[in-house]
Amino acid sequence: MPPATPPPLVLHHHPLMAQALATLRNRHTTMAQFRQALRLAGTVLLLEAATTLPLHELAIETPLCPTTVPALDTEANPLWVIPILRAGLCWNELALELLPHAHVWALGMARNEATLEPECYYPPANKTLPCSLQHAGAQVWLVDPMLATAGSALATLRYLEAKGLKVEGNVTFVGLLASQQGVDALQAAYPQVRLVLGAVDATLNEKGYIVPGLGDAGDRYFGT
Ligand code: PRP
Ligand code: URA
Repeated sequence: MPPATPPPLVLHHHPLMAQALATLRNRHTTMAQFRQALRLAGTVLLLEAATTLPLHELAIETPLCPTTVPALDTEANPLWVIPILRAGLCWNELALELLPHAHVWALGMARNEATLEPECYYPPANKTLPCSLQHAGAQVWLVDPMLATAGSALATLRYLEAKGLKVEGNVTFVGLLASQQGVDALQAAYPQVRLVLGAVDATLNEKGYIVPGLGDAGDRYFGT
């Protein structure tokens, strides 16, 4: 029997996540407040995502003596942050502040508003994946605040697989808000992908918006 798919890690009980979500969901929140709350939620999510990064023993010298300490092995386990444009950009700078050794490979996916199917607009089809992204020890984080139908996340995973990435337990999706339908679709196609989420809402409306949700994350963050 295949191993059971682990449930997503949902952090809505964390007081700072709860506070951030209360602001983000509120229609009266200003763009500046929205950005601030998304940064707070991103900090909680990214720090949680980092708890499984592999460590190795590093030999150092303190001012008193030589010793060994656990540390990130950035060569054996390069970290790749993959923001799904456009809304995924909201956490890119934050991820690089927290993890300055992280590499970035952005992917542009926009949902067609009529069909709800994602359309890849970046990078161009002939672009090849960087070698260290295909490295056996690479840790890969897909970053997007919203997982609605999961079409954009699935298209991103299929794109990366087609370019040679092995999607295994080293891939994490970091998102703020998901629909139950999106979680189910992602886990059915990629049970090995770890999900770190702020909250999971029950439904999607006929336009593919998460309900109760927070509206269009990219529009609210960028002020469009
Ligand atoms: C939003 C969001 C996700 C996608 C989620 O992006 O940031 O990428 O929708 O929906 P799905 O799970 O049904 O694919 P959108 O396409 O609106 O583009 P944007 O980031 O430019 O706002
Ligand atoms: N994208 C968003 O920004 N919000 C949703 O509710 C669904 C997709």
